[in-house]
Amino acid sequence: MFERPRGTRDFNPSQAASHRFVERAFRRTAEAFGCREVLTPTFENVELFKAKSGPGILDEMFTFKDKGGRDLALRPEFTASIIRFYNSELRSEPKPLKVFTLGNCFRYEEPQMGRYREFWQWNCEIIGAPSLESDSDVIALADAGLKQVGLKKTELRIGHIGMLRKFLAFPPHDQASVLHLLDKKRFADLKTALARLGAEQLFDIVSSVAQLKGGPEVLDKAQSLLGQAAKEAVEYLRMLGGQLALYGIKDFVYDLGVVRGLDYYTGMVFEIDSPNLGAEKQVGGGGAYTLTNVLGGEATSSTGFAIGIDRVVLSAGQEGVRMAPRPLDAYVIPIGQPMRAKAFEIVMHLRMAGLCADVDLMGRGPSKNLDYANSVKARTSVLIGEKEAAKGVVALRDMESGKQTEVSVQDLVAALKGGGEPKAHKTGKKPTRRATKP
Ligand code: HAM
Repeated sequence: MFERPRGTRDFNPSQAASHRFVERAFRRTAEAFGCREVLTPTFENVELFKAKSGPGILDEMFTFKDKGGRDLALRPEFTASIIRFYNSELRSEPKPLKVFTLGNCFRYEEPQMGRYREFWQWNCEIIGAPSLESDSDVIALADAGLKQVGLKKTELRIGHIGMLRKFLAFPPHDQASVLHLLDKKRFADLKTALARLGAEQLFDIVSSVAQLKGGPEVLDKAQSLLGQAAKEAVEYLRMLGGQLALYGIKDFVYDLGVVRGLDYYTGMVFEIDSPNLGAEKQVGGGGAYTLTNVLGGEATSSTGFAIGIDRVVLSAGQEGVRMAPRPLDAYVIPIGQPMRAKAFEIVMHLRMAGLCADVDLMGRGPSKNLDYANSVKARTSVLIGEKEAAKGVVALRDMESGKQTEVSVQDLVAALKGGGEPKAHKTGKKPTRRATKP
């Protein structure tokens, strides 16, 4: 017996169905917002992430050397890859470029519920539209995706990293380490770090700002604490609130402690929590940033976010969202050996018509086959015996009610696509065996 690597998971059919259900909702929402899908490599040159993801990410990366001695890393996120792709090939696309991707990422973290070494993200970026409208479109997209999944109990927190960056005007490396401590809410270490930079007097102000959370009144407080450094950001956040109202988004809080763990953010930042998840409750986050220039291109404003699919699945489960897989529309049961060929013809006819259909592969009798159909939650069973074949019909059995009707082979697809009870004349006979309910 082999064990899987720490922090990774296997997904059984029902877990995989939940995962794909959430992915489908995200893909549909992204497309509804005019985003197009892109795909980038699972591993990249390590330098790409060193450029601007920040020390947090670097410590958490899975890095390795290939046989040519090149330093590579499994992607810990998508943003750097998408911006690399933009710089090299997508620059001349019409602006704004709205793209999304869905896939697995890897971070060498201490695994726990909701925190894995391999996890999945839905990532969206709007590149080349430096506006309030694109920031609000991105927030609305994240919000709509979670609503499409069926989540109701999420908390959207919006802040602005620009005001702290302006206020903490240290060299980039020092500023990044101070912001990291703020992000992790490690206030004691923050005090020490500020003292080391000769700016201990800033501690009270910065730690107070980082704890401001609430309605528009917290913007006034930030302004009075940070003065001129907060002016632009505060005005921006007020306007953003007005813009989000156009999308029907009113239920959010300003949280000036949203700092984000990645170093590239420059303006509006946001996070979304699912309070029913415990310690790892952040389901998504993002904000405005400029990364194109850091990765060797022209400075282009961008805004985006990523949502953790694994955490959304956990949260949707907690909220009782049904994430059922696509059901098997029909399970075809030949009655007796001579009918097997006909059964395969019928099952292929159904499959090619876009239905989910399966057929007995075990040579079982009708009763065992009905049990199997029940256990795989087939909507119907299609029984085909010699008598039926002679008349060009099948017996279509609704597995929920046990009701059985005769349907001509030509009408079978329409009867199954009609859903619910098969619409055909009754046989007049009682079903031979009532299926046990799943
Ligand atoms: P992030 O906050 O690092 O942002 O990750 C986004 C989401 O991915 C988190 O909120 C969380 O739900 C999920 N996530 C992160 N790490 C793990 C893990 N170890 N296990 C399970 N889920 C995890 C980014 O990645 C940015 N690239 C977002 C972005 C896009 N900003 C601008 N554009």
